[in-house]
Amino acid sequence: MARITFDSVGKKYPNGFVALEGLNLDIADKEFLVLLGPSGCGKSTTLNMIAGLEDVTDGNLLFDRDVMNTVPPHKRDVAMVFQSYALYPHKTVYDNIAFGLRMRKHPKGEIDRRVRDAARRLEIEPLLERRPDQLSGGQRQRVALGRAMVRQPAVFLMDEPLSNLDAALRISMRAEIKQLHQVMQTTFVYVTHDQAEALTLADRIVVMRGGVVQQVGSPDAIYEQPRNMFVASFLGNPPINFLEGRLAQEEGRVVFRRGQLRLGLPDHVIAKVGSQVGREVVLGIRAEDVFETQPGAEGVQGRIVSVLPVGSDQFYEMEVEGVKLFFRLGKEVQHRSGDNAALGVNVNRLHLFDKQTTQSLVWN
Ligand SMILES: Nc1ncnc2c1ncn2[C@@H]1O[C@H](COP(=O)(O)OP(=O)(O)OP(=O)(O)O)[C@@H](O)[C@H]1O
Ligand SMILES: [Mg+2]
Repeated sequence: MARITFDSVGKKYPNGFVALEGLNLDIADKEFLVLLGPSGCGKSTTLNMIAGLEDVTDGNLLFDRDVMNTVPPHKRDVAMVFQSYALYPHKTVYDNIAFGLRMRKHPKGEIDRRVRDAARRLEIEPLLERRPDQLSGGQRQRVALGRAMVRQPAVFLMDEPLSNLDAALRISMRAEIKQLHQVMQTTFVYVTHDQAEALTLADRIVVMRGGVVQQVGSPDAIYEQPRNMFVASFLGNPPINFLEGRLAQEEGRVVFRRGQLRLGLPDHVIAKVGSQVGREVVLGIRAEDVFETQPGAEGVQGRIVSVLPVGSDQFYEMEVEGVKLFFRLGKEVQHRSGDNAALGVNVNRLHLFDKQTTQSLVWN
């Protein structure tokens, strides 16, 4: 059992730099939690505090009910996998995986059983006698996973474990890590700056920026109901489109307006902002929330700047009221670059933010 609680945790490095502020977070036992955010936002700092590699300089870190602030790393029952793998170059795969257990003086037979069991699960049994320089990147990553697995830790920490792998391997290793979590039945805390990786792996995602948590929620909640423009733009590929404009009242209904563009807002949005006609807002349209327009549909008009086929779909770059927007459409839509075209917009899925605060007007 390992529940991890951050109670108003802060981190100030010795040089005075504040890397993390007021973190309140409860990680449930057996949860797969992903820390997501751009470089420098404090992901590794947070993970290293769980491991005990960095001390907590403000607030409390608890495992279950125990305050861990001053407990040394080797007494924490955590195992960590680093981006660099950190394998011993002169030891065999077997010895790399066995190393931690030998240090803890486990009996030889048990070490052998655990090493072979991990190697079998990770499909690296035939490689046990090789050294790391005789392995591919993906195989090295598996050895690093194996070394953490054999410890049977209560908490599994991973810091960008796939970032050294090529794109195809990264996707197949994602599936393996997800499976590993199911088999091991332990708490996983996983750091990445790759939004797609976070969306596939996580039970919950913590989106961070500049040492401050922006939003915590399931992948669906983070994607569908972003609380601010940063979260909205950090998830999604191509990224969400933003259009500055105003709320206006026209013919008895509340619309978003920018130049000639008018988009009627759905009831759940009007319920939140209906009384704020004139307010400066930013509209968010996700790339996939457009379709071939039909008579009477709400939509956008503009010039198609480019059409980029991407296998099953196509990307449209379209200029609307002086702003370039990126959309993803099915192959059945057949505009060409240079065309003036209209596209339908799924207004039920629109996002709306306050221009000044960048906070969502719909999901707060
Ligand atoms: N020992 C240190 N002393 C001072 N500042 C540090 C130290 N370690 C990290 N920082 C700073 O703290 C901030 C957070 O660093 P951290 O390594 O947690 O970021 P990260 O989110 O893991 O980024 P990346 O995606 O690049 O790994 C950064 O601005 C970094 O420069
Ligand atoms: Mg990092």
